[in-house]
Amino acid sequence: MKKLIAATVCTVTLASAAVHAGGDAAAGKEKAAPCFACHGETGISAAPIYPNIGGQYANYLLHSLQGYKSGERKNAIMQGMVAALSAEDMKDLSAYFASLDGALKAGTTKP
Ligand code: HEC
Repeated sequence: MKKLIAATVCTVTLASAAVHAGGDAAAGKEKAAPCFACHGETGISAAPIYPNIGGQYANYLLHSLQGYKSGERKNAIMQGMVAALSAEDMKDLSAYFASLDGALKAGTTKP
């Protein structure tokens, strides 16, 4: 029984960490203006060559941004975009785009 409770607490903690990833969505919105040209103000991008990021999980977005920053994920455009971002900026931007109702929202089906 104790193990079950511990497992439940652990799962709940992990789930909330995944949703928030520690960022501030309101602060992220302020910082997101340079992103809108390609990813769209709603996180639905202007053209298929730019991924839709609205409604994506915050921890996925943060992991991607950290990957561009470290050079682990290579893309000339995005590596340029993250060059001037701090760890906090990346968390806030991730929280903001995750908070949007994008095409990626779980449970929605788009053709
Ligand atoms: C000039 C266009 C452009 C701008 C501006 C831009 N991006 Fe991107 N972004 C791209 C492209 C192209 C990719 C796909 C790169 C790849 O294949 O890894 C991408 C990928 C991403 C990804 C990974 C998405 C995924 O599904 O894996 C994230 C997260 C992201 N951008 C966030 C941002 C944020 C935050 C900003 C603003 C600070 C921004 N982008 C500004 C073009 C842009």
